[in-house]
Amino acid sequence: MDAKLLLLFVSSAVLALSSGVSVLTTKAPDVVTPDTNAVAPAYYDGVDLTTLSDDELNALVDAEDEILKGELDIKAYLNAVADKPRLHKRWVPLARAAFSVGRSLFRSFSRGRVSRSGSRLTRQYNRQGSYGDAVRDFNRLNPSGTRPITGNKNLQGITGTMGRHRVTVRNTSSNGRPTLEIRSPNTNGGSTVRKFRYNP
Ligand SMILES: *[C@@H]1O[C@H](CO)[C@@H](O)[C@H](O)[C@H]1NC(C)=O
Repeated sequence: MDAKLLLLFVSSAVLALSSGVSVLTTKAPDVVTPDTNAVAPAYYDGVDLTTLSDDELNALVDAEDEILKGELDIKAYLNAVADKPRLHKRWVPLARAAFSVGRSLFRSFSRGRVSRSGSRLTRQYNRQGSYGDAVRDFNRLNPSGTRPITGNKNLQGITGTMGRHRVTVRNTSSNGRPTLEIRSPNTNGGSTVRKFRYNP
């Protein structure tokens, strides 16, 4: 703490104390009761989500989106280069599109509101499009370890990973629309689920 800050701290403490004394002389002491409404904290990247307003939750996911865009930009580049090791140095078309995949995905969608379940935040994103568009966006991200989704004959899809993020594309979802989903566990608690919807 620097000297100026310390001075501020001390003077406000003195102020609080002097006003507190006058209050104490006129008012009965507070009865302390256990807070029955207390909720367990829900930590998300070190932030207790139970203390945030809806606007603050949205602002938090806006900030997380900026991180994700950058991570996808870098990971998509690395995955593309890993596929084509010999062309790495001189493959101009790849280089020109490099480090922009995450940003261009987000750019084509409008952001919806954030909802919270415990320490998990979910946000919907919307654009017009078909399952074909969703698969094209999935392929542009160039996830690793891709495999088709099996076990449900009423849906088709592909899943893969981009670092800590699981990316899944499905031809249908809870709202019936093709969806590109990115699930991201935080290293410091909580997780984010982003659902990119392709609407008629
Ligand atoms: C999704 O794909 C499955 C399997 O091919 C198909 O049976 C189903 O009708 C499709 N759903 C939609 C909404 O297109």
